[in-house]
Amino acid sequence: VNEPAIRIRPLTTIEECREVAALERRIWGYTDSEDVVPPPVLIVSIKRGGILLGAFQPSVTTGQETMVGFVYSLPGIKDDRVKTQWSHMLGVVPEARGLGLGTSLKRAQFEYALKQGIELIEWTYDPLQTMNAHFNLSTLGAIVSEYEVNIYGESSSPLHRGTPTDRFLAEWHITEPHVRRRLDAASGPVLRDQSLVNAPVINPSIAGSSWIRPGAATDDFEARRVLVEIPTGFTEMLAREPSLALEWRLATREIFQRYFRQGYRVVDFFLAKDRGQYLVVRRSNDVTGGSR
Ligand SMILES: CC(C)(COP(=O)(O)OP(=O)(O)OC[C@H]1O[C@@H](n2cnc3c(N)ncnc32)[C@H](O)[C@@H]1OP(=O)(O)O)[C@@H](O)C(=O)NCCC(=O)NCCS
Repeated sequence: VNEPAIRIRPLTTIEECREVAALERRIWGYTDSEDVVPPPVLIVSIKRGGILLGAFQPSVTTGQETMVGFVYSLPGIKDDRVKTQWSHMLGVVPEARGLGLGTSLKRAQFEYALKQGIELIEWTYDPLQTMNAHFNLSTLGAIVSEYEVNIYGESSSPLHRGTPTDRFLAEWHITEPHVRRRLDAASGPVLRDQSLVNAPVINPSIAGSSWIRPGAATDDFEARRVLVEIPTGFTEMLAREPSLALEWRLATREIFQRYFRQGYRVVDFFLAKDRGQYLVVRRSNDVTGGSR
């Protein structure tokens, strides 16, 4: 219906940086200001290569703009050179989700990074959050080969409560054709290849009352491709059954650390009703595994 278009643009003033901090509190529910990036840090980092973009929705009646989402990254050194944008936050207010804004903000971040000659954007996310897994791997085409244990410690966000803040380190190789294909396919699901259906699930789950439970994991380092299962509804599990959430955290930590040590990486994610499956593939010699 005739909604005015949402506009994405770089944020440049301290007032806008304060609005970002306010959005952080709203989106992540932080109660401790220590968890919010301070506006003075935002403002200095954008003067030296940080990328801070806001999504603005104009009011139908007054035309006045409201910030409904943002993305923030800072330049990072990797392999002894300025090589990456470290994306610390992407957030969209709950009432504006599912409209493609998250994807548009990442696309815009991608364009600004390319203008700087940067070909890699990295960020962390919780491997047990299935919506984020879907967004990062299926929609954006990021891949993962590093696992961080309890990287942020315990934060004041209810999204984090109760279990160690283990994270996947997502790598978004923005000049790879794979990423372009995923972004261009964003309007439809990417079809699952028959060979993937045959990849063994190495940790078949056990049926449970509200959530599936972690099953015994076997290593299958003979297989080039394996599937690792995770439950859906992890945020709710954290609140309602924290001991099960912790079991899932520890079980999947073991699996991913073992597979990453053997040279595998996570290249895709499939979502079903009560579970998601990560596709974990042994690294070949090319950079991001063109044939996966
Ligand atoms: C993650 C987030 C930024 C996505 O924003 P968004 O504007 O809803 O994203 P989009 O509309 O572009 O959707 C991206 C994809 O993820 C799916 N998706 C992501 N979050 C979703 C949600 N909460 N509900 C439904 N679908 C969601 C969409 O269906 C879409 O999939 P598709 O490409 O197959 O259609 C937003 O949900 C958010 O702010 N979450 C809380 C903060 C957070 O977790 N940030 C870290 C992101 S790694």
